Amino acid sequence: MTNLGNIRVLFVCLGNICRSPTAHGLFEARVRARQLDDRIAVDSAGTAAWHVGCPPDPRSVEAAYERGYALDHLRARQVQPEDFAQFDYILAMDLENLANLEAMRPADFAGHLGLFLSFAEGFEEFEVPDPYHGGPQGFEQVLDLIEAASEGLLAQLVRDLNADD
Ligand code: 4NP
Repeated sequence: MTNLGNIRVLFVCLGNICRSPTAHGLFEARVRARQLDDRIAVDSAGTAAWHVGCPPDPRSVEAAYERGYALDHLRARQVQPEDFAQFDYILAMDLENLANLEAMRPADFAGHLGLFLSFAEGFEEFEVPDPYHGGPQGFEQVLDLIEAASEGLLAQLVRDLNADD
């Protein structure tokens, strides 16, 4: 579903404090750098409600900051059924979150619901591993995977926009 020629992207993980806000902040920065922020809207949400209203995990904020991305303006929210009417691409960080989203998916959703890493070229992983209970290396891996998938996703969205024009 396109909305006035624009594309809306929602990144989804479990808590919306580590992986999906990292994708949100990083992809938003890439979209802005390409001056596509008037055509592509970016948001993120969690399938769980535990951290609603909270800023991203400080470990995610720090790791992203070291690579030049700001996350500290983001606040966690939970995925809502209405999100399926609002977003064209709903991209899950892992299979568990994808299964939860599939269970919520309305029959008339015409957008793309899938794994974010399906857009990453050159990686064998198809899930972004949950870094919450691990060490700093997990947060670096999250960034590596998200950077790669963001490249592929942005290329796809540019193709979509050109096809629409
Ligand atoms: P996220 O990571 O899904 O990438 O935001 C997690 C954050 C919190 C928890 C689990 C994963 N938690 O158990 O509270």
